[in-house]
Amino acid sequence: QALFQPLPGACPSRTATKISKITVVGVGNVGMACAQTILTQNLADELALVDVDPEKLRGEMLDLQHAAAFLPRAKIVANTDYKVSEGSDICIVSAGARQRNGESRLALVQRNVAIFKSIIPQLVKYSPAAILLIISNPVDALTYVAWKLSGFPSNRVFGSGTNLDSSRFRGLLADRLDVSAHNVHGYVIGEHGDSSVPVWSTVNIGGVPIIEFLKNMGIPYSQSTLDELHKMVIGGAYEVIKLKGYTSWAIGYSVASLVNSLLRDQRCIHPVSVCAKGFYGIKDEVYLSLPTQLGYTGVMGVLNLPLTDEEREKLQQSAKTLAEVQDQLDI
Ligand code: NAD
Ligand code: LAC
Repeated sequence: QALFQPLPGACPSRTATKISKITVVGVGNVGMACAQTILTQNLADELALVDVDPEKLRGEMLDLQHAAAFLPRAKIVANTDYKVSEGSDICIVSAGARQRNGESRLALVQRNVAIFKSIIPQLVKYSPAAILLIISNPVDALTYVAWKLSGFPSNRVFGSGTNLDSSRFRGLLADRLDVSAHNVHGYVIGEHGDSSVPVWSTVNIGGVPIIEFLKNMGIPYSQSTLDELHKMVIGGAYEVIKLKGYTSWAIGYSVASLVNSLLRDQRCIHPVSVCAKGFYGIKDEVYLSLPTQLGYTGVMGVLNLPLTDEEREKLQQSAKTLAEVQDQLDI
């Protein structure tokens, strides 16, 4: 006997359509933080996991599947064979080497380019219409590599970039000013890393420009105070890596916010790593973070943020740093 009886006169031809499939390549600390936030936020109907380590992969898959009674319903699959990723809407790549204590992100580049050569063509083969969202570091250079290897249009390849740095920045400001980080509007742009640029000139708290806000509140500040806060943003990842060996939770939430904007066509503005040539006077074909509108088709456009001459110069300097790294790549 069947578990459920259909209603008399029910029409069985209406079937559930697949709404969203996301693949995560690399089930390390970062990949699993992404998987976890995606599942808890109900962003995927199907989640596919891929890694080179079959035991870890199966262990992670089973561990997530065991939460079925506590999570929104989703099919969770995993395999070392990329066929499992077939038909994905979004492929997230978080595979590869991570920084050791004190090591810069850029130092990882050659190791991870080699890994990307084995990953990107497989993702393209099975999901030719997908959006590639790159997380592995150095994220800007590797997003450029993924773009080149994939042959995809630039609107379908981007990196998580400074979406995370901007959250660190907003969080630090929010703490100091005792307001919610949601009401601190501002961007860190450029490299996800040491040459990032905080756009102080457009930072506002609930619509009030930050400098005016500080003056109105009688809070003393100087350029060195602002520089110090930006140094804390840059140092944030190094500190976490020194303390726990890797970063994971914040990038997981950052990625979920990006996936939500893409799959739900939210058209939110995120600072993410995009092909920056032609924007803000950048002449090189580099990937770096700019405030970008994201929707169902991927990157919809870059916001024309009014920058001061100094901010523009720093951004161009960041672009030069990244262009030099890209020039050395053997793709
Ligand atoms: P991890 O060592 O925990 O995990 C890496 C995973 O990649 C492992 O499971 C490994 O088996 C897998 N892997 C290695 N080679 C592979 C291949 N060829 N194909 C498929 N899988 C492969 O590392 P992690 O802490 O998860 O960090 C992953 C990456 O994310 C690093 O490059 C790190 O620097 C980067 N990261 C980026 C951000 C960001 O903001 N963009 C934040 C945190 C970490
Ligand atoms: C981050 C990584 C290390 O957490 O890029 O910023």
